[in-house]
Amino acid sequence: MTVTIVGAQLGDEGKGGVVDLYGDTADVVARYQGGDNAGHTVVHDGEEYKLSLVPSGAVRGKVGVLGNGCVVNPETLFEEIDALRERGLDPDVRVAERAHVILPYHRALDGIEEEEKDDLAAGTTGRGIGPTYEDKAGRRGVRIGDLLDPEALRDRLEYVVPQKKALAEEVFGKETGEAFDIDHLYDTYREFGERLAEEDMTVDCGTFLQERIDADESVMLEGAQGTSIDIDHGIYPYVTSSNPTAGGATVGTGLGPTVVGQGEVIGIIKAYLSRVGTGPLPTELGGVEGQTPDYDPAEASADEEELATYIRDEGGEYGTVTGRPRRVGWLDMPMLRHAARANGFTGLAINHIDVLAGLDEVKVGHSYEFDTADSASHQNAARSDDGDELLTMPPTTEQWGRCEATFKAFDGWEDVDWAAVAEEGYDAIPENARTYLEYVSDELETPIYAVGVGPGREETVIVETPDE
Ligand code: GDP
Ligand code: IMO
Ligand code: MG
Repeated sequence: MTVTIVGAQLGDEGKGGVVDLYGDTADVVARYQGGDNAGHTVVHDGEEYKLSLVPSGAVRGKVGVLGNGCVVNPETLFEEIDALRERGLDPDVRVAERAHVILPYHRALDGIEEEEKDDLAAGTTGRGIGPTYEDKAGRRGVRIGDLLDPEALRDRLEYVVPQKKALAEEVFGKETGEAFDIDHLYDTYREFGERLAEEDMTVDCGTFLQERIDADESVMLEGAQGTSIDIDHGIYPYVTSSNPTAGGATVGTGLGPTVVGQGEVIGIIKAYLSRVGTGPLPTELGGVEGQTPDYDPAEASADEEELATYIRDEGGEYGTVTGRPRRVGWLDMPMLRHAARANGFTGLAINHIDVLAGLDEVKVGHSYEFDTADSASHQNAARSDDGDELLTMPPTTEQWGRCEATFKAFDGWEDVDWAAVAEEGYDAIPENARTYLEYVSDELETPIYAVGVGPGREETVIVETPDE
């Protein structure tokens, strides 16, 4: 049986915490897409672990697998493994031979293109994710298996590096250094290959996982990022370059869709929205200079700004690396209905309800109003029975940007001893918060499995455990 964990919104919904919670009964935890653009937080014995590549289950001694759908930077991987070893853990990490390798020129090109793109820039993490997936699709990538095969590695580099060098120098007019030097790359990545071989880390992911399933072990599939930054189902082009949606779990591991489909697919939802980066956000509160399109602080509503600051501070919504304030907004139900359909959620984990505690009123964007003059371009989003409102996200980001959210207001709930609530169970959650949670569950026609009431592992109300 598999349990797949998927971000329902824009990433950072608290997936790591849920993997940690439900992963207790899992034997193997596998990532199926993305790379070190992820940052998954696990709080264990009062210690916080921020993992970018090592699957979250590794903190608890599970076997962690990086599936073929991942893009792997071996340098980050070994740094992270070494750092965990220094903290007394012994992570058992396997890497799919079919996974693609992030090379230094991918990182360099990620930065160069972001600079060049200006308004179209996604505000990437700069880890080389996009350029690596480009090369995968362009059939000029280097795979983990190639690092163990000196001849194949050399052949691949000799073909691709001169192209990348020409791109950087001649198209973008940049100087290049050892990140674009075949001999340097060959020597460095051969060493990574030797370490992967010495530590017996490489696997044929699909076979490895299927054998575990056949032996009655339980496998958890850990998504990174979220549905609205999925390359196919997200707000293109402000997206990542992989498929965080549940379909990615089958393609990115080599397990069949029927295998993944027989298991559970749990959607992780943050009780409000937050994101770093540009692009529209119909339920945004206030704005952040340099990120919110056409933002003018002089014209912003003081009440909204105050609310945004409150949620940002309570939720610690500042970039982990840069400390940049994140944009925040109310829950966006059309975004969630879209996610529920695209992923086929069997259960929901709704996190961060503690962050909203203490507000008089909590709102959600229930639907979108649209300009009738624009209706032709909105005809492909689901509408309300009277045809006047959109209930799901329209397919283009420009159409989404023209949507205005219609809000529904809920009475707020008080701040309580959340650890005690987690211990007592669902009925101990303040009534108004339960009304809010049940609205979301009803709209998505999906049961609630867990409610996050704080960052710690014990600060989660468990309603349902997936494989029981
Ligand atoms: P992920 O990328 O989806 O795994 O999420 P991140 O780890 O990047 O971000 C989630 C942040 O919120 C982390 O700092 C978590 O410790 C924290 N967190 C998770 N669930 C909750 C919750 O229910 N309440 C609060 N206050 N914090 C939470
Ligand atoms: P986790 O797994 C939130 C965002 C970046 C950028 C866009 C593309 O922790 O939820 P990329 O470097 O992937 O090419 O950047 O996607 N992004 C994330 N936002 N959480 C993440 O991961 C993210 N990974 C990428 O900010 O807008
Ligand atoms: Mg994160």
